[in-house]
Amino acid sequence: MTILAIEQIKVGFDNFSYVIYCYSKKEAAIVDPSFDATKALEFISSKNLQLKYIIITHYHSDHSGDTHRILKLNPSLTIVASESDGTRLDITVDIIVTDGDKLKVGDVSLDFILTPGHTKGGICIIIDNEAILTGDTLFIGNCGRTDLPGGDFEQMFKTLQEKIKPLPDNLIVYPGHDYGNKPFDTLGNQKRTNRTLLAKNLEEFSKIP
Ligand SMILES: [Fe+2]
Repeated sequence: MTILAIEQIKVGFDNFSYVIYCYSKKEAAIVDPSFDATKALEFISSKNLQLKYIIITHYHSDHSGDTHRILKLNPSLTIVASESDGTRLDITVDIIVTDGDKLKVGDVSLDFILTPGHTKGGICIIIDNEAILTGDTLFIGNCGRTDLPGGDFEQMFKTLQEKIKPLPDNLIVYPGHDYGNKPFDTLGNQKRTNRTLLAKNLEEFSKIP
């Protein structure tokens, strides 16, 4: 039996970085080191965990910027990203993930979903079927921008409809930015209240300010 352990860490003004860790095996992964992983690294050493993976939900520097520094401190780390976004990082990606891929952090299970829209190779990560790290795909009350390089408005709608909405209501959504009225929420609540998930068609989706 595993105990789900996710540490949500605020970085800078509104970025969220995450440490996923396994109590029993003492292993950890940082998801999105952001531009300063100091607090994540301090958390890991305070719990005597061994950092094994850095997982990058998408290539934007406010999510991936401090990866170089962490790699210098620990060159044996394994870097995980999608193929498309991985090629846009100036780092060698060791494990390329796509839809349906899995990874273990100790006894904690990670399931990857490819969720293009904000970037071409954005990923979301389901943790032990209890939580989902949504990067800049889904925020509390909104979804990620599609007007930046690599963004695709229609693809974002498709991702929200076909990849996110079918997931179970009980998942806790942990987003990549603190843009909502709370730092995390159940996916069920988001399906009922998030206008980007409530939009029934592209036209409705396009009218969301
Ligand atoms: Fe982003």
